[in-house]
Amino acid sequence: MNALITSHFTAAPTALRHHRLQQWVSGIAALTTPERVLWCDGSATEYQRLCEEMVDSGTLIRLNPALRPNSFLARSDPADVARVEERTFICSRLEEDAGPTNHWRDPAAMRTTLNDLFKGAMRGRTMYVIAFSMGPIGSPLARIGIEVTDSPYVVANMHIMTRMGAAVYEVLGEDGDFVPCVHSVGVPLAPGEPDRRWPCNPADLHIAHFPETREIWSFGSGYGGNALLGKKCLALRIASAMARDEGWLAEHMLILGAESPTGEKTYVAAAFPSACGKTNFAMLIPPPAFKEWKITTVGDDIAWIRPGADGRLYAINPEAGFFGVAPGTSPTTNPNAIATLAENVLFTNVALTDDGDVWWEGLTPTPPAHLIDWQGQDWTPACGRKAAHPNSRFTAPARQCPVIDPAWEAVQGVPVSAFIFGGRRATTVPLAVQAFNWDYGVYHAATLGSETTAAAGGVQGQVRRDPFAMRPFCGYHIGDYFRHWLETGHALAEPPQIFCVNWFRTDDAGAYLWPGFGENMRVLKWIIERCHGRANAAETALGWIPRSADLDWSDAQTEAQAYAALSRIDPAAWGAELARRGEWLTRIGAKNPRQLALVHELTARALGEKP
Ligand code: OXD
Ligand code: MN
Repeated sequence: MNALITSHFTAAPTALRHHRLQQWVSGIAALTTPERVLWCDGSATEYQRLCEEMVDSGTLIRLNPALRPNSFLARSDPADVARVEERTFICSRLEEDAGPTNHWRDPAAMRTTLNDLFKGAMRGRTMYVIAFSMGPIGSPLARIGIEVTDSPYVVANMHIMTRMGAAVYEVLGEDGDFVPCVHSVGVPLAPGEPDRRWPCNPADLHIAHFPETREIWSFGSGYGGNALLGKKCLALRIASAMARDEGWLAEHMLILGAESPTGEKTYVAAAFPSACGKTNFAMLIPPPAFKEWKITTVGDDIAWIRPGADGRLYAINPEAGFFGVAPGTSPTTNPNAIATLAENVLFTNVALTDDGDVWWEGLTPTPPAHLIDWQGQDWTPACGRKAAHPNSRFTAPARQCPVIDPAWEAVQGVPVSAFIFGGRRATTVPLAVQAFNWDYGVYHAATLGSETTAAAGGVQGQVRRDPFAMRPFCGYHIGDYFRHWLETGHALAEPPQIFCVNWFRTDDAGAYLWPGFGENMRVLKWIIERCHGRANAAETALGWIPRSADLDWSDAQTEAQAYAALSRIDPAAWGAELARRGEWLTRIGAKNPRQLALVHELTARALGEKP
């Protein structure tokens, strides 16, 4: 390896004592031939230096410090704007271990492909070494990853999204375990060749996971989950495989705390597919009639959950920041998110205002008269284009959230009383249901459906099965994952209650029947009361459903009549829904646990259908 080795450490990192890590980094540098290797220390000074370098190179624009202190805007290549599921691979030894929801590749063949792609891939660039902890440092639930990347934008994002640098090397010591994560934008530079503002190589995009050897290799993209390898790649795909082997759960869930007017604290974890308002629910502001309730955020996207000695489940948020979708976030829809974004934020693909701040669709009711759009073009309200990309993002430190939970970094996690699963369904699925028991809950989550949105890259209105909201994120066979859930719950003395919600039901004209946002507090209160055995409900074929009288309607705008439409179980619609669920379970094949087929049959019979 001829690369110059440098570091931002003022003293030698203890990593220099970790022989295996040294060897691995040297091997990657020998393969990718960067100009220099830089060991990151994770300090604020390092962050500032990187951002300044990116301002100089044109990758970042510094926002007006008077309006948005210490914040920057990045504009990606228009061909690199989102996670790309078709290029995301699970490379387990056996194809059947990847299952029907993943793209499988033979590990040996993938290694050959990756070897060719990564050979010389970092030429002319700096290779950064990032030691990061997913989970509070020192938590028994935390895991360490080492990402090497040739993207300074990725390093800056990892500064916000993870705990990284010097403290992580201390935990790693001389022989600690880590998940190796290799990332390159895939654009080597010839001597003297000028760089692009956002180098990427979408034609050769590969996001490859090796669940057996616990490795991640990502090539060709600099965007979000493709490149910040601690998030979807490590904390979900690889962690789900670790969790199966070690007896815990790695889930695509927000975690929130609810303190009742009497001071009783309840934590719930909730899974929603992408583009269903997860960040809004995680930071919910109760309506005025519930002002004595305090809702606090532990996490907005991922939960790692482990059985405690007391037979309950305990959850941590493995991330340190929010990587949220900007469009639609406003002082009305999510004032807590807006407050979180006051300073120290990296924005990607949002619009730039004439006074050097950011804007996106939905931020204000009336758009500014002039903007520079996410591609750097002049924009006016009449121009017919979106000013911000629909998947534009903010990367912001979680600690800046005004309602961050006091226990959000608790090393033992917070106890989970309920799991909530929700999809986007215009019809069929009622506002809220409590599953009869763990197996019924797992059945509902395993057959969860959500309508794809154009913004999320799908065909508008088509229902896609997204089990546990994990379809793009489960690193192994989804049937084995269902079995793991069943077994985990059966081993608990006090399993959480399982609920399904649907905030998105519409009337025949397509108007939403439920106001959502803060009003979801009415459903959340019922869920919490059910967990404590206090609220009432009616038994239906699907589970326990709140009657109108079982919900707290104080100061509500929603009419009882609307609630009837929101909670209706329509036999014809359910006939069709069950047929789709049956097809889905059949697709899962022999690994689908028998209990789920049985619950499907019982549900069909209860609905008067032939299973
Ligand atoms: C996300 C997603 O970005 O789920 O969190 O797609
Ligand atoms: Mn997500």
